[in-house]
Amino acid sequence: MGSGISPLIFLLYSVLGLKCLLTTEGHQKNFEEFVPGMKHDGDWNNHLRLRPSDDGNSGNTLHDHSSLSHMDPELNVFFHHNDLKVGNKMPIYFPTKDPSATPHLLSRQESDVIPFSSSQLPYILELFSFPEGSKQAKAMKTTLEHCEFPPIKGETKFCATSLESMLDSVRQIFGLNSKVRVLTTNYLSDTISLLQNYTISEPPTEIFAKKIVACHTLPYPYAVFYCHGQVSDNKLYKVLLAGEDGGRVEAAAICHMDTSHWDPNHVSFHVLKTVPGASPVCHFFPTDNLVWILS
Ligand SMILES: *[C@@H]1O[C@H](CO)[C@@H](O)[C@H](O)[C@H]1NC(C)=O
Repeated sequence: MGSGISPLIFLLYSVLGLKCLLTTEGHQKNFEEFVPGMKHDGDWNNHLRLRPSDDGNSGNTLHDHSSLSHMDPELNVFFHHNDLKVGNKMPIYFPTKDPSATPHLLSRQESDVIPFSSSQLPYILELFSFPEGSKQAKAMKTTLEHCEFPPIKGETKFCATSLESMLDSVRQIFGLNSKVRVLTTNYLSDTISLLQNYTISEPPTEIFAKKIVACHTLPYPYAVFYCHGQVSDNKLYKVLLAGEDGGRVEAAAICHMDTSHWDPNHVSFHVLKTVPGASPVCHFFPTDNLVWILS
């Protein structure tokens, strides 16, 4: 690994606030140590429901449309492009930064010794002591399938089980000597209500990017990132938000300007009451997402 990469990896560990297990002989670790964070039932449910920028054109969606009838609080991340104005108020859901609910981030050495494939699922379940047919087993199966589903035309996708492998893949996509930057949503206050009204407090900054790869966490006993990039027209923003409870968030947001090829059932169309191609679809990123940028 080049010397330029390690500082970035360390920066990311702190940005993400994930518990890292940076051990040289990681495979010696007791696997049970990885699991506690994902024992919270809520996590397994919530993560499955919504991957906002898991755009609806792939056909392999994780969205549970049946739950849409009664509006899920977590769906309060979508907005219209023309909502992006100073003084505008909108309800937004941001997850709590609860370290005990955050899956462990493994080092490359640690993740390399654990199989990550649907065909190995029975073995993986045994490793993490999850019974077949359990909620966790189902979520893990969905995650593996999601990672194995081939990319659609014009899309680049991969799953990463460590930051090192994520960065390697991003560099392959962007070019080995390219200067990559990462954009995340940051809480500027200690506590943030799950759902509240926010006012856009400063003019949103557009971040110009030649290429974008967005990485979202998927439910798994340790941190797994689903990363994807598209060639379609996107605009990235940094938006300063002031919550009604006084909490402040520096949020990363993306607007997908062309949704004409998306699945008409994509959750965002229900929320924004629009149809494919009619208007841009924007959403905020939760704090555990990483948006890689080639500027
Ligand atoms: C946001 O404000 C509107 C009125 O301006 C109110 O009806 C709504 O309940 C508020 N939403 C939240 C989540 O507080």
